[in-house]
Amino acid sequence: MISPGVAGRLAGRTAFITGAGGALGAAIAEAFAREGARALTLSDIRVEAVGDLAARLRRGGVEVTTPELDVTDGDAFDRAVRSAVEAFDGLDLLVNNAGAVSPNARIHNVTTDDFDRCVRINLTGTFHGVRAAARVMRDRGGSVINIASVAGLTAWPYAAPYGVAKAGIIHLTRVAALEYAKERIRINCVCPGAFPSAIHDGVPDGAMDVIEARHPFGLGKPQDLTGAVTYLASDEAAWTTGQAIVVDGGYSLP
Ligand SMILES: NC(=O)c1ccc[n+]([C@@H]2O[C@H](COP(=O)([O-])OP(=O)(O)OC[C@H]3O[C@@H](n4cnc5c(N)ncnc54)[C@H](O)[C@@H]3O)[C@@H](O)[C@H]2O)c1
Repeated sequence: MISPGVAGRLAGRTAFITGAGGALGAAIAEAFAREGARALTLSDIRVEAVGDLAARLRRGGVEVTTPELDVTDGDAFDRAVRSAVEAFDGLDLLVNNAGAVSPNARIHNVTTDDFDRCVRINLTGTFHGVRAAARVMRDRGGSVINIASVAGLTAWPYAAPYGVAKAGIIHLTRVAALEYAKERIRINCVCPGAFPSAIHDGVPDGAMDVIEARHPFGLGKPQDLTGAVTYLASDEAAWTTGQAIVVDGGYSLP
């Protein structure tokens, strides 16, 4: 591991990651630490899911806090981000990674509650994160990375709430990027294809095989996404804002 805060593309940076207990959130945290980030706020609604990761990163010399945060609560999001700013003397990076899928169903069988819940976690949660970041980053700039999905760019049947929410994240990213360009806050998103994680726990038997077959490179791994996230977090992307970077093993090509 690179010494935290000394070398690497994120040397000395501080970052706040939501859903950090999940597969991609943890991989992003590890990648940021390898690139020299000095302090990480690893938040999740399941705070217990972050413990081992936090301990490992602390052993590597990174400062870590692990607040419990439900991204659907905008006030709590603001409080958690302000605490991170106070604890680590500023915030450079925020990754809106928390997400959840809706039950597999065609639209006539989707309940209003399931639709609302999916939009609240994925889209409203990301809105809360962009807003919280904008409120604290306006003085010295920063980078916000939203985790959308190829489901927000292509039509995935049986997942309308999720696809709509992810498409909303892509558009929110563009609007926010324009609103905060003058304050040097870059806001981008990554659109992953499918990779194994707990988010797929509820999918019907055989569905993952169908999804895998639609990816020319097969299913990805969380680590296949971290290069794009780290790039957007780094100064290499200093002139990049409002973009949706697709990393999907070729899923969206046909
Ligand atoms: N796995 C895939 O195939 C895939 C594909 C495209 C996009 N994504 C996106 O990647 C991101 C990470 O997903 P993952 O695959 O690592 O799934 P995951 O289930 O492993 O991780 C998601 C994390 O989000 C947390 N979370 C859920 N609801 C929350 C809430 N209300 N507040 C705070 N945290 C909450 C969960 O506790 C979990 O730790 C999500 O935004 C997901 O939509 C995943």
